[in-house]
Order: sequence, then C-alpha cells, then structure tokens
Amino acid sequence: MERLQKVIAQAGITSRRKAEGLITSGKVSVNGHKVTELGTKVDASKDEVVVDGVPINKEEPVYFLMYKPTGVISSVSDEFGRKVVTDYIDVEQRIYPIGRLDFDTSGLLLLTNDGEFANLLMHPKYKIKKTYIAKVEGMPLRETLKKLEKGVQLEDGKTAPAQVKVKKTDKTKNSSIVEISIHEGKNRQVRRMLEAVGHPVLKLKRENYGFLHLRGMNAGEFRELKPHEVKQLRELAVT
Ligand code: URA
Repeated sequence: MERLQKVIAQAGITSRRKAEGLITSGKVSVNGHKVTELGTKVDASKDEVVVDGVPINKEEPVYFLMYKPTGVISSVSDEFGRKVVTDYIDVEQRIYPIGRLDFDTSGLLLLTNDGEFANLLMHPKYKIKKTYIAKVEGMPLRETLKKLEKGVQLEDGKTAPAQVKVKKTDKTKNSSIVEISIHEGKNRQVRRMLEAVGHPVLKLKRENYGFLHLRGMNAGEFRELKPHEVKQLRELAVT
C-alpha cells in the first residue's frame, strides 16, 4: 500500500506536490469514493484511482519524440498562456516532457505518459548522452575546450567530463559553432558551462538524445517512438 499522492505522481500525471493539491481540492476518487485526505493509502494494482474523471492506470503508454522549436515552454501548461510543448501533440493521453529544454533552446525532446519510463531516463544515476550544437561568442582555444572536457565549476557543483568539438569559426562575426555532449541534466547546463569559460551561448539546439536524432524533421514536428526505440532507451538508461 502506498500513499495516494505518490501513486498519482508515479502514474506520471503530475508531481507529488501537485497531486496533493488535486486530492485536497476533491479531484480524486478511489474505488468510486471521493478522497480528500492526504494520508490515504491505496494499492496501485487493485484500487481504481480516478483523477479528474480519468482512471490513472488505464491509459495506454505512449512515447513521442519532438523537435521543440524555440519560444516554447517544456511543460504541459503555462501560467502566462505561452505556447507549451504539448500544444503540438494532439493525443488523448496526458503526456508530459521528459526533462526540459529552455524556452530559448530548440531540439530533441521526449514526451510520454509513462511515469516509470520518465523517471528512469531522468534519474541522475542513469547517464544518457545528449549532444548539443551551440553558437557561441568568440573562438574557443584548445585549453578552453580542455576545461570543458574535464568539467567546470558551476555554482551548484562541478560538471562531469564532457566531449567538445569546434565545428566552425567565423572570424569576422567573432563567433563559433561548438558541439558538446554531456550526460547530466543540470538546469541550463550547457549555457552555464560555456558562459563559465567565457563563451556565452547565442543559440542552442539539442541534436541527439542517446541514439535518437532529429534528421529529416523540422521544428514543431513530432513522431511516435518505435517499440524497439523505447526498449533500447530503457536498456541504455540502466547500462
Ligand atoms: N543546457 C542548456 O543550457 N539548456 C537546455 O535547454 C539544455 C541543456
């Protein structure tokens, strides 16, 4: 038996804190009875938990890969009415993004309604490689790349080793295109790493997530992941 808010959060519907709000505001029922007590314990495999009229465990798990455009929030709703990533994908299931890309960052984003899968991919213990293409100010020196490769000190700790390549430099515009691969997911990590070594990011795009890529897709487009891709991601996460 587990606490109701935990079961709702694990089903991927929302965070545990927001699940508590759903319970206390009378949006949740268990086996046909409204429950507003936060301490309530349920058996996720037997009890029927319904949130906003929809049974939580009855949804088919779905998995999407999206090419997030810039100027879109990686969330399911926004208090200021700005566009959110789920506006692009019209499905019945309550999907949400796995991790996030900044408002100003474009690129590969996964979405699902499978809470266990999302937790697996986001868990800091499991290190999936993500590759970004950044347009930066200036022309990084070799020793600067070395610093990024070794890890740089940010205010919330030192970053793990990264792989970095300069793809192109533009002397007249004093800017460069840098490819950087990291395994962690600290908030605004790539921007902060490059800023820390003196090369502020002008533009950022995530091109790869593990073996997944964006080739052939335009910003705003999405596709369902194939079952073998979902399986491979699970394997990648735990190895
Ligand atoms: N690093 C960033 O700085 N921003 C993102 O959106 C993702 C990684």
